[in-house]
Amino acid sequence: MKFFIDTANLEQIKDAQDMGILDGVTTNPSLMAKEGITGTDNIMKHYVSICNLVDGDVSAEVISTDFDGMVREGEALAELHEQIVVKLPMIKDGVKACKYFSDKGIKTNMTLVFSAGQALLAAKAGATYVSPFIGRLDDISTDGLNLIAEIRMIYDNYGFETEILAASVRHTMHVIDCAKLGADVMTGPLSSITGLLNHPLTDIGLAKFLEDYKKGN
Ligand code: E4P
Repeated sequence: MKFFIDTANLEQIKDAQDMGILDGVTTNPSLMAKEGITGTDNIMKHYVSICNLVDGDVSAEVISTDFDGMVREGEALAELHEQIVVKLPMIKDGVKACKYFSDKGIKTNMTLVFSAGQALLAAKAGATYVSPFIGRLDDISTDGLNLIAEIRMIYDNYGFETEILAASVRHTMHVIDCAKLGADVMTGPLSSITGLLNHPLTDIGLAKFLEDYKKGN
């Protein structure tokens, strides 16, 4: 399972990268705004800074909602760095743009996916990644994990190669449940990754080992 971090915060990206377990980064316009990165030029520069910090794929989202605009923006983003993945919204023109980029060998991530039907369209358009937003489904009392299971079954039925990128992950149990269900990738905040470290028996056991070592020395 690949681990992506869902942030535009360079410190947090570096933290995860330094652990040696990071496979990529996802961003969106809200995450950019949260870091105070505004204006096309600054946003483009920030994508390059992120790419220079990590080894894997970095999703960069278009803000156009029409095919021509998405193509123009996506091509500019893809030219920034070889690690850039063009992130496209799950709307009709987004699917069309996904097919366009897939045919050109440019990686894509179909975002804002909330149903199995949308995921099927993403796979048909040759998306590299499909991003079902599990946390936002949970927020409206709908089982986000069930969507991961449905997409896994559909993709396996037909051998679709689109990777299931569980997005809108909020906590460690989301990560573990997505791993059980066979999601290819998860993206979440740093806390959803570092939280996996925590176990009181590890802390108690380590303290005891160190204490016993001191007794013998
Ligand atoms: C990832 O690609 C999405 O932008 C992100 O996971 C959305 O997460 P949120 O629902 O916590 O905003």
